[in-house]
Amino acid sequence: MSFPSDFVWGAATSSYQIEGAVHEGGRGDSIWDLFCRTPGAIYKGHNGFVACDHYHRYAEDADLLTGLGAQAYRFSIAWPRIQPTGVGPANQAGLDFYDRLVDALLARGIDPYVTLYHWDLPTALHYEGGWANPDIPQQFGEYTTHVAKKLGDRVKNWMTHNEPQCSIYLGCGAGVHAPGWKRPFEELRVMARNVLLSHGYSTLALKAEIPGCKVGMAPVGQTCIPASRSAEDIAAAKHQMLGIRPDSLWEMPLWLDPIVFGEYREDVLRDPVAVPHLSEADLKVIHQPMDFLGLNIYSAPIIKAGEGGKPATLDDSIDDPLTAFRWLVRPESLYWGPKISHERYGLPIYITENGLSNVDWVGLDGKVQDPQRIDFTRRYLTELGRAVDDGVPVEGYFHWSLLDNFEWAEGYKERFGLIHVDFTTGTRTPKQSYHWYREVIASNGESLRADPSTVV
Ligand code: FCB
Repeated sequence: MSFPSDFVWGAATSSYQIEGAVHEGGRGDSIWDLFCRTPGAIYKGHNGFVACDHYHRYAEDADLLTGLGAQAYRFSIAWPRIQPTGVGPANQAGLDFYDRLVDALLARGIDPYVTLYHWDLPTALHYEGGWANPDIPQQFGEYTTHVAKKLGDRVKNWMTHNEPQCSIYLGCGAGVHAPGWKRPFEELRVMARNVLLSHGYSTLALKAEIPGCKVGMAPVGQTCIPASRSAEDIAAAKHQMLGIRPDSLWEMPLWLDPIVFGEYREDVLRDPVAVPHLSEADLKVIHQPMDFLGLNIYSAPIIKAGEGGKPATLDDSIDDPLTAFRWLVRPESLYWGPKISHERYGLPIYITENGLSNVDWVGLDGKVQDPQRIDFTRRYLTELGRAVDDGVPVEGYFHWSLLDNFEWAEGYKERFGLIHVDFTTGTRTPKQSYHWYREVIASNGESLRADPSTVV
């Protein structure tokens, strides 16, 4: 396991989960503010109104990134800070905040990786139909232009959407995320089309404003792990991972095939009516060159070849380790996810999110001991190293998350940070895993090899 010398090590966050200050600097309301005000929507009525107060503490957080030795930081821009109602001229105070943040990062030698949409849609746009509104793709393009004009001289790596599977399905289908809609799949596919178009307009805007910039996307890296190394199990896992099922938005090809290939390739269509309807004109906008693929990978099912080679999901064992969120610990997802995705799309890959929630608290000695996070990350990174050794061009890894933060509908219940946050006082305490990850970064992954328990 040997990471390339220019491998990028970093950590990730998103605007709504950390910033707070939701009514400052002229920021407009977002659908997550609205959802937080909805009784019963969020665990114990928690909200993101203050969160980690990163809006005021960004310099301290940049120092913490320095302490970690991070080479890069992935964060997102809150659309309602840039355009309070989602349209019209840019709000200077909003742009200035990200300007200060980017400068703070660069002054510390940390490369910013910016996501344009990590789910905080301006509420005003929601009332116009949100992602169902046919105007939203172009509006997203205009928003992108405002951001690119301000930050494009310093930010070179961009992601349009984070996990559209969640913003559309969890938000507008299952109703468990903002805006809490329960719309039928027919309508969700219309929204998916608009997301794809918005990716196209956003890419065009970025490329027009910032020569040489790199543009990607960060979908849920929906992954399947083959039950064995047999050709049959591997084929079954790929078939399962890539096949678009009729009533599902989770599969990556639903989002990536039209962007990368300009069409849905036959091999992933399990049912021809299951994909968004895209006209030739739509595809012209959507089919833009993509420079890298971001994968957010946390867990994965294990698939074997069942009867006639058909994919069959292995039952979880009672001994399978679980995170605090009760997500299965599946390190091999960080081998198979990048490998299969690269085989299909041929793009360089970043792991844009990976991590776990854990039951962390500040001990009597003032330290936060989180051995599970260390063990989890060691196992996953070892698998990622294996993918690198196999020739998969993985360019970087962003741990989710830098800070404990507002975990959407779960409120502050799930702690994903390398840094513990006391949400009453705002105090940050680096966890044991922060110090451990610093060694991984400093040794470019060699410290994973040195430790005998890295052998899986
Ligand atoms: C991902 C989200 C991210 C965070 C992690 C735990 O789905 O992109 O914001 O909530 O899960």
